[in-house]
Amino acid sequence: MAIIFDDKTNTFTLHTERTTYQMQTDPYGFLLHLYYGRRTDGVMDYLLTFADRGFSGNPYDTGNDRAYSMDALPQEYPCRGSGDFRNPAIEVVNEDGSYGCDLRYQSHIIRDGKYGLEGLPAVYAQKEEAQTLEILLEDPVSGLQVCLLYGVLPELDVITRSVRVRNAGTQKVRLLKVQSACLDFLTGKYDCISFYGRHAMERQYQRVPLLHGDFRIGSRRGTSSHQYNPMMILTEPDTTEDFGTCYALSFVYSGGFQCDAGMDQYNQTRVLMGLSQEQFSWPLKPGEEFTAPEVILSCSRDGLGRLSQNLHSCIRRHVCRGIWKEAVRPVLLNSWEAAYFDFDGEKILCLAEEAAALGVEMLVMDDGWFGKRDDDNSGLGDWFVNEQKLGEPLGKLIEKINGLGLKFGIWFEPECVNEDSNLYREHPDWALTVPGRKPVRGRNQLVLDFSRKEVVDHIFEQLCNVLDQGNIEYIKWDMNRSLTDVFSRCGEDQGTVSHRYVLGVYDFLERLIARYPKLFIEGCSGGGGRFDAGMLYYTPQIWCSDNTDALDRIKIQYGTSFGYPVSAVGSHVSAVPNHQTGRVTPLKTREVVAMAGTFGYELDLLKLSEEEKAEVRRQIQDYKHYAPLISNGRYYRLTNPFVDEIGAWEFVSGDGREVLACAVMQEIHGNMTAGYLRLKGLTSGKKYEDLQSGKIYDGDALMEVGLPLPLETGAYQAYRYYFRQV
Ligand code: GLA
Repeated sequence: MAIIFDDKTNTFTLHTERTTYQMQTDPYGFLLHLYYGRRTDGVMDYLLTFADRGFSGNPYDTGNDRAYSMDALPQEYPCRGSGDFRNPAIEVVNEDGSYGCDLRYQSHIIRDGKYGLEGLPAVYAQKEEAQTLEILLEDPVSGLQVCLLYGVLPELDVITRSVRVRNAGTQKVRLLKVQSACLDFLTGKYDCISFYGRHAMERQYQRVPLLHGDFRIGSRRGTSSHQYNPMMILTEPDTTEDFGTCYALSFVYSGGFQCDAGMDQYNQTRVLMGLSQEQFSWPLKPGEEFTAPEVILSCSRDGLGRLSQNLHSCIRRHVCRGIWKEAVRPVLLNSWEAAYFDFDGEKILCLAEEAAALGVEMLVMDDGWFGKRDDDNSGLGDWFVNEQKLGEPLGKLIEKINGLGLKFGIWFEPECVNEDSNLYREHPDWALTVPGRKPVRGRNQLVLDFSRKEVVDHIFEQLCNVLDQGNIEYIKWDMNRSLTDVFSRCGEDQGTVSHRYVLGVYDFLERLIARYPKLFIEGCSGGGGRFDAGMLYYTPQIWCSDNTDALDRIKIQYGTSFGYPVSAVGSHVSAVPNHQTGRVTPLKTREVVAMAGTFGYELDLLKLSEEEKAEVRRQIQDYKHYAPLISNGRYYRLTNPFVDEIGAWEFVSGDGREVLACAVMQEIHGNMTAGYLRLKGLTSGKKYEDLQSGKIYDGDALMEVGLPLPLETGAYQAYRYYFRQV
């Protein structure tokens, strides 16, 4: 049993294989958080301390007990109005304008299987793989009911949380804030790891000590954003990749979010994660319900490496869906950096012919094939094939490409519209704009109001029309701007529109995968601007970044690896000088880096020399050999490229017998000191053979000191070692 309720102490204990999470309802009905950490038995309420603390008020029904204060006690779901002056998880305004809310335990249910969330992405599991706990809290005055949902996946050391709020009273209420998870820590010092960035430079690693005051990351852009990923890690200060306690929170949501962490006056730490409060205001009439998106929690006592592996398995096996979730991806050639908008059917076919000759398995026609679209100023919204540009119907072109033995994929940006488009001319009110104001443009485009069903329906129909024209096996779903002017003519409260927009996107995607269950969808938002567990529920892979420079990618992919599996990371070999940085890196280096993701190409293969083409042929063969290990193996970070000169990572098969270790020299100096590649995850006491050199090494020695990398000149050299247990 993963979830245990002890009715003598009113304690809820959630066990995973290596961790325990515990809470308790106290005599007043408050749900207190007791513990989250290494697996333990017993009741942990002895951790609570009580004292008469100045300016920390006491609930009325505690009588004269001045030592009982919500301001100092650890809570499962703190609300504004209870006398807790810390950051609340929920804020409600009642019909009379008051902010009162007082949540007390009512009942609970424990059942097998994992709860789902209607209209929202969520972790799923077989009945025997998970258990669900629902705890119902209620405000006795307003009748507001808050149902806390917990999903426990013991094998992965994962606990999920979500919240359903229901107005069971007789008066209207308005939700101003509903966070999905709160974690209170009674004691301990923590660092916070988060992932900041910008377009073409996503998920940069940052680790800072948590101090008094709130540390906040979030997005007010309507998408999860390039700027902050909806993922946060809390670690003890001495935690490393391999040792120490750490906690992850990953938001299964693709819109605006916030995550706050900070220490209170008593040096206790609170972390909250959920929907962005900004532009959020959700009215609930009697009988209505609101569901907050899910947060995935994981705790590791074996350092950050294990924590990431927990999240990788959870996302890969319990978030991604469909036939592609665990399948090795086809090696693709994408037309974007090969031709941008400057192509016709013949060019696409020439690329396909060369691709087929080199062993590529899929040709993706990126932006520029529809409406009037020869640059990025027009055409979005007009999802009909520009047959003039292609020189023939799409179906015919696809047949020819399939005839070469290649699959065919195509690009869409369903959520946006150019003012210079038929769609906008016919339905200007379908774009998000504020009446009487000129909208903010981004990439010269506006965002369609996906909170409206008729808009979603129309674009869906257009997309299906295209998809039905031929054997399209992949689509790249792009979204190339942030939301502004969030005002809808949908007739709903404007404070609900940002979230309804995201629900509209999810609804569209759900319909798409229901109608085309074999379709492989890659998410994208100017690269990794919407790289989150929510999107991965619909698109098992996301284009990691518009930056294809191998050196920058080492850092971007390093940051990404903390929360997301390699199978989710779209990564391609592109041309040099690189189009984003102008940097020249060896072809081998670009290959090694792109193989830390789903491998493909993004360049004009026709421009390669014969020597380079031969290398590409060899790369693809190698990839096919390594792909099962890369996508199914355990992923280890061997260095931190933000501080180390070498960027290095490794894949180890589940049984520890096969190892692929990769390294890139990020810097070059005169009279170099030797760099050692220190491996992880091998089986102690076993020998490993380097299959290239035939040399045999002791596994323990490889993990203890490692392998000296060659001392070579030349910038950005890459090395790859493939070992097999002897
Ligand atoms: C975005 C994507 C690119 C490409 C372009 C096309 O920037 O991230 O990969 O598809 O759009 O306009």
